[in-house]
Amino acid sequence: MESKGKYYIKTMGCQMNVADSERMAALLAEQGMEMASRPEDANVILLNGCTVREKAVHKALSALGEFHLLKKKTNRPLIGVGGCVGQLEKQKLFRNAPYLDFVFGTDTIDQLPEILHRVQNGEKHVVYADFDKSMDYSTETKVFGQKSQAYVNIMKGCDKYCTYCIVPYTRGKEKSRTIDEVVSDIARLVTSGVREVTLLGQNVNSFGKGNKNLRKREPKELHNIIGKVGPKEGDENFPQLLRALDADPRLTQLKRIRFTSSHPLDFSDELIDCYSPLTGVRKLAANLHLPVQSGSDRILEKMGRHHKIENYIAQMDRLREINPEVGISTDLIVGFPTETDSDFEATLALLDRVQYDNIYAFAYSSRPGTRAAKLEDDVPAKVKNERLNHILKYQLDIAEKRYATRLGKVMEILVEGEAKNQSLTMSVEKTQKLERVWTGRTTCNRVVNFVVPSPRDLMGRFISVKITGSTRLSLQGKLDTEYQEKSA
Ligand code: SAM
Ligand code: SF4
Ligand code: F3S
Repeated sequence: MESKGKYYIKTMGCQMNVADSERMAALLAEQGMEMASRPEDANVILLNGCTVREKAVHKALSALGEFHLLKKKTNRPLIGVGGCVGQLEKQKLFRNAPYLDFVFGTDTIDQLPEILHRVQNGEKHVVYADFDKSMDYSTETKVFGQKSQAYVNIMKGCDKYCTYCIVPYTRGKEKSRTIDEVVSDIARLVTSGVREVTLLGQNVNSFGKGNKNLRKREPKELHNIIGKVGPKEGDENFPQLLRALDADPRLTQLKRIRFTSSHPLDFSDELIDCYSPLTGVRKLAANLHLPVQSGSDRILEKMGRHHKIENYIAQMDRLREINPEVGISTDLIVGFPTETDSDFEATLALLDRVQYDNIYAFAYSSRPGTRAAKLEDDVPAKVKNERLNHILKYQLDIAEKRYATRLGKVMEILVEGEAKNQSLTMSVEKTQKLERVWTGRTTCNRVVNFVVPSPRDLMGRFISVKITGSTRLSLQGKLDTEYQEKSA
């Protein structure tokens, strides 16, 4: 196909935006455009921005400033802003950045070719940022290029409205795809070489709400220690989706299923059962990201999280009882309005109690339009930063101990590529010239750098690696002569 020009995409934010950027790239490739590796080479620049914290917005604006300079210098690229920034700010963006050509939102990505057509025909300040008003959500995943891993949106939006969070305003109301559609979509991805999927949603535990269950599926209802949770009886639900993916004969070549994110409020016993090595979902990775945000009940209440720490700990205990190998990670916010030293200590105590593999911690950032923005942002920036640094360091010690428990084990790795810096990883016993260091992830989502004795292409393969070392951030291993490549 004749090239219709080049595009460059700058992606910021979470996996949702990463998946959306991949969709944009696939759509533009279908139009005959090529990907540029530098903004300087592009006819069209897309900024897929994030608004979750003020810093993210500043980053987006500073990237835009650079693109503007480029446009002034070369009089060339068309510039569009999308993602959560485009959705939230809409035409307001043109006030501060009149040089922008178009703005699009999180629900209008598929209209990108149409938007580009209009802008390329001379229309100025084109805006496509309305939410899709239909009740259903139906789509087909688009991946760009040959991939062994794919993100698959199973739902969109969020109805939780945690008091600090802008996401419900940038992603709209919760809607789910049907189980049948997701299974067929993934079956198609598998035929194109995908071996691992990450199911995406802001809160996958409420997947299926409002989708009538057209087939008899187990489990029918969802419960946790608080009581009955999630979608109603007769609706589809997330554990049913996982079990359907595990059982479908078209998916025998799918090796791993991951998902993110979930909310403790409707994290169900039925989902915990999916982690059982005996009766659970065989393809489900031994990994869980369950954001808790704070270890203090008082702060959780102010955050509108509607659950108590005691219940969260009981959920984690039950999960570890069912499968001790599961690696658990979480999100935390420090410096939420009114957070005291003792609230913060309760969060540290939670880290000690749960023994996370990994945490993602953030300083609270007031977001205009959210309920928490009406509270006084009374924890000084200096204290927020001190708490943030302290908690990250605190977790590193816990992670070091957790990682060390994997020493000597043989683990299955999905290979992601050669390690970028071969010399940095010399500590992984790399002794001969022909040896290369590769990198991949375990089922519990740990990065493993491992030595391969001779040059060969392991990209996208599942292989067994013996863990020989650990640091606070990663594991090291060796692909020795006994290794067996897992049959696809
Ligand atoms: N849906 C997920 C959940 O319920 O946790 C993730 C939402 S958000 C994309 C990712 C993380 O950003 C949140 O878990 C929270 O820790 C953090 N976050 C959201 N709003 C924030 C704010 N106003 N200030 C600081 N961190 C924030
Ligand atoms: Fe934001 Fe809460 Fe929804 Fe997560 S569950 S996206 S933190 S409102
Ligand atoms: Fe994700 Fe940022 Fe939007 S975290 S959902 S890209 S506001």
